[in-house]
Formats: sequence, C-alpha cells, structure tokens
Amino acid sequence: MNLRVVEKEDVPLFAEWLNKPEVFGEYNPLRQVSKTEIEKDFEKGALEMMDFIVEKKDGSRIGFICHFTLVHPAGKLLEIGYSLVPSERGKGYGTEVVRIMVDYLFLSKSIERIQAQTDARNVASQKVLEKAGFKKEGTMRKYLFIRGQLRDGCLYSILREEWKEPKILTKTT
Ligand SMILES: CC(C)(COP(=O)(O)OP(=O)(O)OC[C@H]1O[C@@H](n2cnc3c(N)ncnc32)[C@H](O)[C@@H]1OP(=O)(O)O)[C@@H](O)C(=O)NCCC(=O)NCCS
Repeated sequence: MNLRVVEKEDVPLFAEWLNKPEVFGEYNPLRQVSKTEIEKDFEKGALEMMDFIVEKKDGSRIGFICHFTLVHPAGKLLEIGYSLVPSERGKGYGTEVVRIMVDYLFLSKSIERIQAQTDARNVASQKVLEKAGFKKEGTMRKYLFIRGQLRDGCLYSILREEWKEPKILTKTT
C-alpha cells in the first residue's frame, strides 16, 4: 500500500467516488459535484478532499486521504479526512494510511496538532484514529447533518509531543 500525490488523471475517478454515497460511507454528508467543477478546482490547485491517492502494490486505486485547514477565530486547525472503497475496508489499510499521513504532516509542517472528526456511530473510523495515536477530545452533540438527521460527532486529535517520531516514513535526520 502506498500514498501518492493526486495527479490529473485521477480526477475522473475522484469525481466518480465523490458522487457515489457508498464510497464516502454512510457517516459522511451527501455531496454531488460535477466532474467539470472538480477539474476546475484541480487546475486552480484548490481541490479539496483529495491530496493523496491510496494505491495498492498492483497499482489499483482504493481510496484517498486529505488534509485541509479550518479557520478558527483563534487560529488555524489542520484536519484530515479519508475514505476507502467498500471492497478494501476492514483489511488494515485505513490505519496504515492515517499513520503515514500523521508522519507526513508532522515532518513537513510546523504544526502542533492534527485533528479529525467522525460521526459518533462510525466505530471503524474511531478505531483507526485511536490506533494511529489520536485521543478523543469529546462529543459534539447534533453536530453533523448526515442523511437528513443531525448526528453527534466526535473530535479527535494527536499532538506533536504524543507523536514523538515517525512510525512509518523513514527518518530524514
Ligand atoms: C473508516 C475507514 C477508513 C476505516 O478503514 P479500514 O481499513 O476499514 O479500517 P482497518 O481495517 O484499519 O480497521 C481498524 C479497526 O476498525 C475495526 N473495524 C473495521 N471496520 C469496522 C466496522 N465496520 N465496524 C466496527 N469496527 C470496524 C477493525 O476491526 C480494526 O480494529 P481492530 O484492530 O481492533 O481489529 C473505512 O471503513 C472507510 O473508508 N469508511 C467509509 C468512509 C468513512 O467513514 N471515512 C471516515 C470519515 S471520518
């Protein structure tokens, strides 16, 4: 399994994934976006939600992981999001992907924390985060609008001091 930066030729597949609710899973908001819009965002360097493709050793593309910045009155918060195609879930890839992303972000950015939010019912995602060293900060009640209902969300984070050193990426010093 490998993470690689998204390329233009990945855009049609991403459009397909984005518009298929089963790929984003039952705990993410529904969203429909045209391929044209996604292509435009990619050209502008403003494509949200997909900066790394998850690729298996045979070259097949099985999901994505992204990071984005939330602007908060007190500063900026770096958050991650991820999804795998249904047939590749439950095989340990989700955990590995989040670990690699944490390594990458702490090695490449001067940040002290990385956060993630999940629907409180999303056990798989919460386990992935905990296995990758994230801690639960709390539950946000009626926070996420999912499939017509407001659902509780959980906020997770990992601090640089809790990460300490790369678990997967080779040390650079
Ligand atoms: C969330 C997601 C990325 C998890 O990745 P994954 O590769 O399936 O997870 P892993 O195989 O690494 O499993 C991690 C843990 O979760 C458990 N798990 C996996 N699927 C589960 C499920 N459906 N229900 C309960 N636990 C589950 C695994 O058993 C494992 O725990 P263990 O080590 O104690 O056995 C994946 O399920 C997915 O893409 N879901 C749809 C999109 C989504 O919800 N994204 C996250 C939004 S916040």
